[in-house]
Amino acid sequence: MVKLTMIARVTDGLPLAEGLDDGRDLTDAEMYKQQVKALFKNLSKGHNEASRMSVETGPYVFQYPCPGRVCYLTMCDRSYPKKLAFQYLEDLKNEFERVNGAQIETAARPYAFIKFDTFIQKTKKLYQDTRTQRNISKLNDELYEVHQIMTRNVQEVLGVGEKLDQVSQMSSRLTSESRIYADKARDLNRQIIIVSNSEVWKLLPVGFNSEVGSGCHRVRSRVPPLLGESKAVLVVHTQRPNTGQNIIYVSRIMAEEPVNVNGFRELARQTLPKMYYDFFTGGAEDQYTLKENEEAFHRITIQPKILVDMSSIDLSTMVLGYSISMPVMIAPTSRHKLANPSGEIATARAASTCNTIMVLSISSTCTLEEVAACCNAVRFFQLCVYKRRDITAKLVQRAENNGYKAIVLTGDSPRHGRREADIKNKIIIQELKNVEGLLSTKIVTDKGSNLDALANQTRDPSFTWEDIGWLKSITKLPILIKGVLTHEDALKALEVGAAGIIVSNHGGRQLDYCPPTISVLEEVVHAVGGKVPVFLDGGVRRGTDIFKAMALGAQAVLVGRPVLYGLAAKGENGVRRVLEMLKEELELTMALSGCSNVKEITRSHVRTKHDWQLLSLL
Ligand SMILES: Cc1cc2nc3c(=O)[nH]c(=O)nc-3n(C[C@H](O)[C@H](O)[C@H](O)COP(=O)(O)O)c2cc1C
Repeated sequence: MVKLTMIARVTDGLPLAEGLDDGRDLTDAEMYKQQVKALFKNLSKGHNEASRMSVETGPYVFQYPCPGRVCYLTMCDRSYPKKLAFQYLEDLKNEFERVNGAQIETAARPYAFIKFDTFIQKTKKLYQDTRTQRNISKLNDELYEVHQIMTRNVQEVLGVGEKLDQVSQMSSRLTSESRIYADKARDLNRQIIIVSNSEVWKLLPVGFNSEVGSGCHRVRSRVPPLLGESKAVLVVHTQRPNTGQNIIYVSRIMAEEPVNVNGFRELARQTLPKMYYDFFTGGAEDQYTLKENEEAFHRITIQPKILVDMSSIDLSTMVLGYSISMPVMIAPTSRHKLANPSGEIATARAASTCNTIMVLSISSTCTLEEVAACCNAVRFFQLCVYKRRDITAKLVQRAENNGYKAIVLTGDSPRHGRREADIKNKIIIQELKNVEGLLSTKIVTDKGSNLDALANQTRDPSFTWEDIGWLKSITKLPILIKGVLTHEDALKALEVGAAGIIVSNHGGRQLDYCPPTISVLEEVVHAVGGKVPVFLDGGVRRGTDIFKAMALGAQAVLVGRPVLYGLAAKGENGVRRVLEMLKEELELTMALSGCSNVKEITRSHVRTKHDWQLLSLL
């Protein structure tokens, strides 16, 4: 009896078709399918021992002939005649090649030829009963003789693969360690040269073009280690120029064009090496606060006012006296070059195009001078105080001299939060540009994250509210305090003369289980009593989130990760699109809620969980 039938492409093990009804009455069907996939994987690595294989597994046996570009495999009872099994596969092969032969190389998704199941079922029926006249005559027919069947046990066959896998894992570890060097090379000229099967392959990333012409083929299994462990499909076009070199253009079939900023996250995931995607996306420890930052917005509802004149809507607002086109700014985030070789320059240009403010992180990968020179966006400079106060003072001075309009002092990071993904990945980071020549930021540790080591080595954990007097003494720039989550700290910020407060938990990257920012915004706003503007960051992903934050008293919001995702996916244009999407969504939210300008967004436009509880008591 034929129990399973599976068809896969040999170059990469991609399943093309299978008998859909197969395995329904089989205990452990899933386990056997996994074994088949492992066999396909072996074959894709060129491990095949004979022209016909019989691989025994429990009461069954996998039969498959030496594959060409496609492997046809069936699993039958051990008692089922091998001769019939191979004849069955031969019938499948003839029909499959006839119908689908031209598209086998270019198939991009698993089970692209699932319709072939109809033929599998029909043919399987013919072979099910070995005693039919047709099958008896096939068994007796010398024409269908099968020779050289090698019988092995599944453990033996997969065991060989396992050892080879170990070797391949070791080599992919080496590959991932060498990725940092590959990235540097990519920074230089976006080209990587690799040697594969003694041939030199030149990889030229060509962005996100999903167009594939004829002659393209996929070498998925070979290329991903170089470009990260993205699950994106790689399409490779080969050419043989006069030099005899193979040039392969690597492209990715990307997810659909994003329709909201969350879509950019998926694009970023496909684009970035895992280590860097994890760095951008991750939070501290259990990532409770990280998740809650977004979730807490979902628990707030909007109370719209209807039949209001919405023929024109003005989203502009003022921040420290600067007019911006919408109440959304770019939060300080470090190391933009890990997302895109243009780094903070691309981000700043997008901010400038969208007429909003960018807060440049002290841990940027372009210098504050380079960013200042690249565009005329209004810029603030984010500061963490270094142990070396003289260097901190120099940086503040440089920011002032280069036209930065405010200092954003991050108060929530006396030590580095425990970001376990970075620890697991043993993240490798570049030296920091702003302190080049002033402070060594080259850290290489074997024990976990290099970021922890760097922060602990350089930052001053003893800096307190009292020291803000010192900071004020070295700059005329207004100082915003970032990281406030309680009314007590809000009052302290007022006492020390802060020009503004940013309610922030560092995007859930510092203290886990501290509250989501939107849940404490109102407490801070009440404590401040309108004396200075209050801003918020953390989990803002929608125009409705911005609206909710403003209704609860924020002057504007800042966004961190969405900007990085946009930058990773599409560079400057990606950041611009992220900002535009948020703006468009906010405009729509205002239109549907009856607010024609940001001042008209009031507390009465939202209900929090607390409001609902109070209402239920009435
Ligand atoms: C990758 C990354 C790097 C960050 N680097 C900094 C930094 O250098 N200084 C800082 O004050 N905050 C930093 N933050 C925190 C952001 O300023 C901001 O508080 C947070 O990203 C807001 O949350 P969101 O990402 O959900 O929008 C960083 C956040 C991320 C995701």
